[in-house]
Amino acid sequence: MTRNDRANFGSKLGVTLASAGSAVGLGNIWRFPFETGNHGGAAFILIYLVCVLILGIPIMIAEFLIGCHSRANTAGAYQKLAPGTHWRWVGRVGVLTGFLILGYYSVVAGWTLEFIGEAATNSFAGKSAADFITSFNQFTANPWRPVLQLILFLLATHFIIVKGVEKGIEKSAKILMPILFILLIVLAICSVSLPGAGAGVEFLLKPDFSKVDGNVFLGAMGQAFFSLSLGMGCLCTYASYFRNDTNLTRTALNVSAIDTMVAILAGFIIFPAAFSVGIQPDAGPSLLFITTPNVFQQAFGNIPWLAAILSLMFYILLALAALTSTISLHEVVTAYLHEEFNFTRGKAARLVTAGCMFLGILCSLSLGVGKNYTIFGLNLFDLFDFVTAKIMLPVGGFFISIFTGWYLDKKIVWEEISNNGALKAHFYKLLIFILKFIAPIGIGCIFINELGFLK
Ligand code: PHE
Repeated sequence: MTRNDRANFGSKLGVTLASAGSAVGLGNIWRFPFETGNHGGAAFILIYLVCVLILGIPIMIAEFLIGCHSRANTAGAYQKLAPGTHWRWVGRVGVLTGFLILGYYSVVAGWTLEFIGEAATNSFAGKSAADFITSFNQFTANPWRPVLQLILFLLATHFIIVKGVEKGIEKSAKILMPILFILLIVLAICSVSLPGAGAGVEFLLKPDFSKVDGNVFLGAMGQAFFSLSLGMGCLCTYASYFRNDTNLTRTALNVSAIDTMVAILAGFIIFPAAFSVGIQPDAGPSLLFITTPNVFQQAFGNIPWLAAILSLMFYILLALAALTSTISLHEVVTAYLHEEFNFTRGKAARLVTAGCMFLGILCSLSLGVGKNYTIFGLNLFDLFDFVTAKIMLPVGGFFISIFTGWYLDKKIVWEEISNNGALKAHFYKLLIFILKFIAPIGIGCIFINELGFLK
């Protein structure tokens, strides 16, 4: 396939927004708060921010330049840049990672649809924090409803994927991201002003380093990769649709900044409210869903119509943020099957959707009827989350940094970063240094630390 046959993102704003659309999703609003809660709060956030800065941004630039230069799906990209070598496995394993993530991610995405329904029928009204916990647990343990919702969600993703890159992805990202951002700010302000919210704010801002262990580092690193959509070739695939004059460094900085702000805002919505109504911060994957209904109830309970409208808007936008991420995950696998196996885009997309439905159904059932089946003490849902976010993505990032820092011709890196000399590329040397040494050594140390060898 030649350069010109492939689709392009129309505008520069579209490039940033589509990449940010992939990055911003349940990873920021659902996963970041519960990982922060599981790992003790502020200290985790600080380590997370360091991971974004020294691992996330450089590896994002690396993924961008690999995709932008090769103009291929992620596996094809390594094939083109390093023909006949084993580097293509970085791309292939990335595709597999994307497929597995989409499998369990769509379960949570399906939950957002259930909550849209609840908000639309005003069923939060008059309920207590304890009621929200009970009804959420009943819902996720139900064998039918969550499965139905995840199927609906995957069908929506499928529909947009077969409509093509520019029309589907770009249009939706452009309108929705800014609205989501404003709503998050409003909700954070509401949450922080609830009675007793101060303890939640303190949890977010006052680090307790005595709780920091290898697990916290691994958690923070995994969260950075997951939230920024890194380590599996997702942004590499998107970059293959970028225009040639895209400023890769600036795009990476913008996307990372937006992504981080959304995560922090989500923290300021969840923890003040959780502490205010007595929800444990380490409630795990249910945290977002058992906490947010309280925000609407507590802050707007005496203006029911406002509570209803805001909650409906919030869950719709949450679902849409998840959708721009599921689209990006789906696109990685679809582009791979389409370009490497010569399936039509439609057939490739159908295969991906069907496969993810199968995985998603298994993951969803593993929270209810199948909860007694565990592997290493984890149900299937938690296992998928652990293996993909905490192992596969960082390992992918490790190889991406080695590939760009050591293997790839520096002329290519320079050309892509400076757009053939048109941009100044101030950070070029620093970038190469990080990709060569800091990122691989950092990721390696966190793994070794987790295994306990450094103790
Ligand atoms: N970054 C997305 C989110 O935060 C999830 C994702 C991970 C998307 C990896 C693509 C690749 O929700």
